[in-house]
Amino acid sequence: MNIGILGTGSMAATLGGAWVRAGHTVRIGGRSEAAAQATATRIGAAGHGSLAEAARFGELVLLAVPAAAAPELAGRLAAELAGRTVLDCTNALAPGADGLMLATPAGRSVAQQIAAAAPEAHVVKAFNLCHESIWTLDRLEFAGAPLTVPFCADAQPAQQAVSALITTMGCTPLPCGPLSRATYLEATAAFAIGAWWSGAEPRHAFPTPGAAA
Ligand SMILES: NC(=O)c1ccc[n+]([C@@H]2O[C@H](COP(=O)([O-])OP(=O)(O)OC[C@H]3O[C@@H](n4cnc5c(N)ncnc54)[C@H](OP(=O)(O)O)[C@@H]3O)[C@@H](O)[C@H]2O)c1
Repeated sequence: MNIGILGTGSMAATLGGAWVRAGHTVRIGGRSEAAAQATATRIGAAGHGSLAEAARFGELVLLAVPAAAAPELAGRLAAELAGRTVLDCTNALAPGADGLMLATPAGRSVAQQIAAAAPEAHVVKAFNLCHESIWTLDRLEFAGAPLTVPFCADAQPAQQAVSALITTMGCTPLPCGPLSRATYLEATAAFAIGAWWSGAEPRHAFPTPGAAA
């Protein structure tokens, strides 16, 4: 698959690197040409250039920028993103007196804001739950099972595209419903990261119901 990545930071490099290893053709787009070139060279991407060039290049396009910047960027590149599967890995989180909180209005996910800004793009919420370092691993397996990657998307072609992408990474796609449910993936990140920060292991809070049988 041709994948355009908007952003040159940690997620661009680690997810982009995982996609290069999985055999995809990746182009890095940044607002700094030098940063885009450095990230592309580091991960063996096929090319680099501007944000608009990367958006045009990808049948899938990853928004690897801060959540606060993602809807505005998607709106600015709405024409380039039209008809493409746009992967939103962002987390809009803010530490507060009550702990780590979602920095989005209740029920209004970043993914939905991106979809509103670029209405002809097929937005998918995915890849927001793992720390960027996880994507550097050659085998994405934990406790003997492939990593599960949950995603939310409205359009069926986008669901199929992201499922195929996740499968090529050796992971298991987990469809979690339409984009209206993306807010739950964003809240899950707030929960999990808050737990990691406190030294806890959130996955131990989810034994399968059958474990008691
Ligand atoms: N890091 C993680 O473990 C992790 C895990 C899950 C999800 N995420 C999410 O992934 C996204 C990217 O995180 P990251 O860790 O890769 O961040 P990062 O290393 O700080 O990289 C952010 C990138 O976004 C670019 N950027 C910032 N504002 C921009 C704008 N207005 N227009 C265009 N580009 C802009 C930066 O470009 P400049 O260099 O020019 O500033 C940089 O290339 C965030 O939304 C984050 O919540 C991160």
